[in-house]
Amino acid sequence: MTTMRVARPLLFQITLLLFSTRLPLVVCGNGHLETPGRNEIVHLPGHTIENSHQLPLPHTYITPEQLPKAFDWGNVNGVSYLTGSRNQHLPQYCGSCWAHGSLSALADRIKIARNSSIPKSDIHLSVQHVLNCGGKVAGSCHGGSATGTYEFIQQNGYVAYETCQPYMACSNESQWGFCPHVDTTCQPQNICRNCGMKYVLFDNQCTAIPSDRIPNASIAEFGTISLSDNNNIHAIKAEIYARGPVAAGVNGKPLHVYHGGVYKNQTADKHNTHIVSIVGWGVNDENDNVSVEYWIVRNSWGEYWGEKGFCRIQLGHNICGIEHKIVWATPGRFTVGARGASQRYVDPSSNNNNDRMALQKGR
Ligand SMILES: *[C@@H]1O[C@H](CO)[C@@H](O)[C@H](O)[C@H]1NC(C)=O
Ligand SMILES: *[C@@H]1O[C@H](CO)[C@@H](O)[C@H](O)[C@H]1NC(C)=O
Ligand SMILES: *[C@@H]1O[C@H](CO)[C@@H](O)[C@H](O)[C@H]1NC(C)=O
Ligand SMILES: *[C@@H]1O[C@H](CO)[C@@H](O)[C@H](O)[C@H]1NC(C)=O
Ligand SMILES: *[C@@H]1O[C@H](CO)[C@@H](O)[C@H](O)[C@H]1NC(C)=O
Repeated sequence: MTTMRVARPLLFQITLLLFSTRLPLVVCGNGHLETPGRNEIVHLPGHTIENSHQLPLPHTYITPEQLPKAFDWGNVNGVSYLTGSRNQHLPQYCGSCWAHGSLSALADRIKIARNSSIPKSDIHLSVQHVLNCGGKVAGSCHGGSATGTYEFIQQNGYVAYETCQPYMACSNESQWGFCPHVDTTCQPQNICRNCGMKYVLFDNQCTAIPSDRIPNASIAEFGTISLSDNNNIHAIKAEIYARGPVAAGVNGKPLHVYHGGVYKNQTADKHNTHIVSIVGWGVNDENDNVSVEYWIVRNSWGEYWGEKGFCRIQLGHNICGIEHKIVWATPGRFTVGARGASQRYVDPSSNNNNDRMALQKGR
């Protein structure tokens, strides 16, 4: 909590005010200025790369017939490969859906690679690290993008684990709540730190973790699947099935009044304002006897929202714009043990071999 007591110098606060009137820089889609609870998708000028990949994409080596009718990373033969849910609006509002959606998908992919059937605690990635250091490429509490988050992590070389830097819901331009009192500058202490009672007179001194001892994850490749891509639904399913959850844009407005079930309103506005993660798909709506296919979607609005933090949206009709832009990333390597011991991600696409995948999934 020390950071909250670090007041910013007056000059900086004035600069902050001047700058805050110039935000946002570029807004995706309709060009509206985002306001709290509205458009949280912003494409920053420093974000220039949306696709950075070489390996074959899963839809090129998995046929539609090879995909199951239903598949959920939250329940693969009784095992969940999903990390715990988060709430971007605590301890206060921050428009960081883009960081939550993209980092939870990446963390889930790390969990899949570690294989959660061997019990270990989850690895969460630090949204606050991205807010503190990714302001030119990824985003801020006033919006950002999933591709920008992945570009930032690839450029930067890593993203710290959440135990390095907890979520404060603040970025440098944010004047909401206690943000004027939070130091969000990109410096070692704001990437990975620990606080202790080293000097009893000055309680709670915080120090940076040396830069070769930061538990972290890197990104190997990232890319997008657009609505205009051929057979986009198959491409999305194959990507999820082979490599794990993805980030997705969606119209957040109808989600505010979602209380469970499969959302099927095909006339709802499709303009993307919010970013979530898709963790699988299913068939049949138990509430009526129609057979519908749906995406299983993870939100970042807490577990009191929707179906314990999740919702289901009928697939194939771009409902709420959920199929407008899908974003995926594969891990590079990530810290797993003492003294920087790390695990390198083995991409299923690097070994274009369906037998191996079938084996992995225990089919
Ligand atoms: C916040 O950080 C971004 C990225 O580093 C920078 O471009 C911007 O000028 C900063 N804004 C303020 C108000 O300091
Ligand atoms: C990131 O993690 C790797 C693997 O654990 C480690 O070798 C590297 O030093 C870490 N990077 C930083 C900046 O600490
Ligand atoms: C579907 O969305 C449209 C547009 O927002 C709205 O007018 C309509 O009432 C919705 N239908 C249902 C069944 O919720
Ligand atoms: C669904 O089908 C079952 C069995 O055919 C029937 O008992 C039930 O009433 C139906 N539910 C609805 C909502 O139509
Ligand atoms: C995890 O390991 C178990 C045991 O080897 C295996 O059956 C399962 O398919 C693995 N899961 C994944 C997602 O690789």
